[in-house]
Amino acid sequence: MSTLLISFLLFFPIFLLLVRKKRSSNRLPPGSLGVPIIGQSLGLLRAMKANTAEKWIKQRIRKYGPISKLSLFGKPTVFVYGPAANKFVFNGDSSTIANQQPKSIRMILGDRCLLELSGQDHKRVRDALVSFLKPESLKKYVEKIDGEIREHLKLHWHGKEQITVLPLMKTLTFNIICSLLFGLERGPKRDQFVSNFETMIAGMWSVPVNLPFTRYNGSLKASARVQNMVKDLIQEKRKKLEQKTASPHQDLITCLLSIRDENGQEVITEKEIVHNVMLVMVAGHDTSSVLITFLVRLLANDPAVYAAVLQEQEEIAKDKSMGEFLTWEDLTKMKYTWRVAMETLRMIPPVFGGFRNTLKDIEYDGYHIPKGWQIFWVTSMTHMDNTIFPEPSKFDPSRFENQSSIPPYCYLPFGAGYRICPGYEFARIETLLVIHRLVTQFTWKLQCSDNVFSRDPMPVPTKGLPIQIVPKNLQ
Ligand code: HEM
Ligand SMILES: *[C@@H]1O[C@H](CO)[C@@H](O)[C@H](O)[C@H]1NC(C)=O
Ligand SMILES: *[C@@H]1O[C@H](CO)[C@@H](O)[C@H](O)[C@H]1NC(C)=O
Repeated sequence: MSTLLISFLLFFPIFLLLVRKKRSSNRLPPGSLGVPIIGQSLGLLRAMKANTAEKWIKQRIRKYGPISKLSLFGKPTVFVYGPAANKFVFNGDSSTIANQQPKSIRMILGDRCLLELSGQDHKRVRDALVSFLKPESLKKYVEKIDGEIREHLKLHWHGKEQITVLPLMKTLTFNIICSLLFGLERGPKRDQFVSNFETMIAGMWSVPVNLPFTRYNGSLKASARVQNMVKDLIQEKRKKLEQKTASPHQDLITCLLSIRDENGQEVITEKEIVHNVMLVMVAGHDTSSVLITFLVRLLANDPAVYAAVLQEQEEIAKDKSMGEFLTWEDLTKMKYTWRVAMETLRMIPPVFGGFRNTLKDIEYDGYHIPKGWQIFWVTSMTHMDNTIFPEPSKFDPSRFENQSSIPPYCYLPFGAGYRICPGYEFARIETLLVIHRLVTQFTWKLQCSDNVFSRDPMPVPTKGLPIQIVPKNLQ
C-alpha cells in the first residue's frame, strides 16, 4: 500500500531537488552519488492534484532517462522506470530492498502491519492473511458479499433519483470488509467503528504534527479507539471459538486466531491481528471503491462497452429467480466484464507508485545505489507506454483477451512479487458482483460527463461522480 507514501508526499510541503545522475561505465563508488549538482524545484504535489503527475514523470524520463536521482524529504532517492525497473523493485530480495513507510503512517497503522514487516515475519503474517483471502476460501463468501451489496442498493439507491457514486462505493466496500473480514454486522457498533475509522484516515493524509486539535493528533486518537474496538472483537471471538459457538472460517479474525503451530500455540500475535486488520481496512476499501466508481463512469460514457457488459450480465441474470444470490460459478462467466475492469485499471490505476528502501549497497542497470536510499517506482507509467500498449489512450478491453501477449512486468495494477496485492481476488469478486447488480437493476446518466480525474492520492472523478438513476422495473 505504497499509496500511503504517495499521500504523504501530497500533503507534505516539500520541494523536489532534481539531480541528474551521470551514467558512467565505471561504477560510482559508494556515496559519490550524493553530491547534488543542480537544484530544480517542482511541485509533484501540484502535478498530482491536477492529474499531470504522469506528464511530470514523462518529462523527467525524457530529460534524464529511465533512472535518475532526486531528493525527497531531504532523503536521497533514485527514480526508476520501465519493465526492468518494475522487476527490480518487486522481485528484489527482501534483505536488500525493504518496504518503507513514513513514521507518521506507522504511528497510525501500527508497527506490526504487513507494510512494516520483512523476511520471515512478513511471510508468516502474509501467509495467514492469504489463507483467508485466497480464491478457494473466498468462494464460500460470494453469497454473503452479494447480500451486503443488495442491502446497500436497497438503502442508498432505490427510491433515489440522484446519488454520488464515490462516497457510496466507499461506504459499500467498507461495509463488505466489516461484515466479511471482521464479522461486524450492521448496527450501532459498526457505525461507531466506521466513524472512528474515518477520523483515523482523515488525519493519515495530513501534515504529521502531533499537537492538540491537529488532524494528525485526532487521527492517532481515533487509531487508539479503533485498536481497542478490534481488541474487544478479538476477545469476543476467542471466547466463542473456545465455546465452539464460532467457526475458524467465520471471518478473518477467527481464521487468524485459529492458526496454530505444531505445539498448538497461536502463530499470529494479538498485536499483529490488530495492526493487520487496520491495514486491510485502509488497503481494501479505497482501492476497490475507486475501481467501481470509474467503471460506473465508463459504462455511462461508452455505449458499446455498456451493451457488451449488459449482455453478459443479463445472460447470467435470466437463469436466476427473484432474490436468488449470485454464486462463484456465475462469476466465472463474467469474463468480458473483468476485462473491462482490467482495462480501467490500466488507464486509471488506483495505486500510482510508491517507495522502497535499500538495506545494502546494490547495483541496478550499471548504477551503484548506496544503502539507505529511497527507490521511487511508478508502475503505472508502463501502462501508458505505446511500445507496450499500442494506442494507450484508447479504451480497449480486448487487449486482455490473450494475457500472454502482454509482456512481463508491464501491467501491474496490483504490484508483483512477494508483496503483490493479497486482496486481488477479493477486489475482483466485489467489483463483478456490484457491476452485475447495477447494470441489471438501474440505468444511469452522468451529471458531469467529463473524462478527467484528479489524484487525492487515489484517482477522484469530478465531484465524486454525481449521477441520475432510474430503476429498471420502472422503465
Ligand atoms: C482494485 C483494488 C486494489 C488495487 C488496485 C490494489 C493494489 C495494490 C498494490 C499495487 C499493492 C502492492 C504495493 C507495494 O508493492 O508496495 C497492494 C498491496 C496490498 N493490498 Fe491491495 N489493492 C486492491 C485491493 C485490495 C483489497 C480488497 C485488499 C484487502 C482485502 C488489499 C490488501 C492489500 C494488502 C494487505 C497489501 C500489502 C501486501 C504486502 O505488503 O505484502 N488490496 N495492493
Ligand atoms: C495529542 O496531543 C496532546 C498534546 O500535545 C498529547 O498529550 C497527546 O498524547 C496527543 N495524542 C496522541 C494520541 O498522541
Ligand atoms: C497469445 O499471445 C502469445 C504471445 O504473443 C502468442 O504466442 C499466442 O499465439 C497467442 N495466443 C492466441 C490464442 O492468440
